[in-house]
Amino acid sequence: MAAYEDTRDGVLLTDDPAKIDLDAVCDLVELQDWGAPRRIVRTAFEHSHPYVLLEDGRLVGCMRLVTDTVMFAYVDHVIVAESHRGRGLGAWMLGSVMARPEYAEMHRWMLLTENAHGFYRTLGFDDFSRPSYAMDIRVPCPKE
Ligand SMILES: CC(C)(COP(=O)(O)OP(=O)(O)OC[C@H]1O[C@@H](n2cnc3c(N)ncnc32)[C@H](O)[C@@H]1OP(=O)(O)O)[C@@H](O)C(=O)NCCC(=O)NCCS
Repeated sequence: MAAYEDTRDGVLLTDDPAKIDLDAVCDLVELQDWGAPRRIVRTAFEHSHPYVLLEDGRLVGCMRLVTDTVMFAYVDHVIVAESHRGRGLGAWMLGSVMARPEYAEMHRWMLLTENAHGFYRTLGFDDFSRPSYAMDIRVPCPKE
């Protein structure tokens, strides 16, 4: 897919690998204290489809998709820098990505959240429709 870009209020949303600084992404993720070692966060971003928000070249948000582009997309690491929260940037970032024509046929968008349900509901997400269909295996992240 060609690089995707969108802008709003002087903030650039991009998936252009040349503009994505994974060290800065890891710094932002580290601030959330979610417990995954930096090496693992970096690998996760490298092996999925990352998007970032840049203001004057500085990273102010990120997210990543794990997707086959038609059947399934898993949304993860949705973060807006604390200084930029509450301005609609998070909803715009994820909403803009979800509206990409390349994803028009997507069958299922999925994510896990501990306490941001209200945020994702504004984008159309709802509780899992058939919880009894879902299964997973959880292996704790290594401590490093
Ligand atoms: C969650 C997060 C990405 C939201 O980004 P944001 O730019 O501040 O959100 P927006 O301004 O676009 O908010 C859009 C809507 O979601 C609501 N919202 C925002 N954060 C929310 C939260 N944590 N819980 C419930 N609702 C939330 C807003 O009130 C707003 O509602 P409205 O449209 O009715 O006014 C940001 O707070 C963040 O990075 N938090 C820390 C990381 C995190 O928890 N990420 C989600 C992990 S699953």
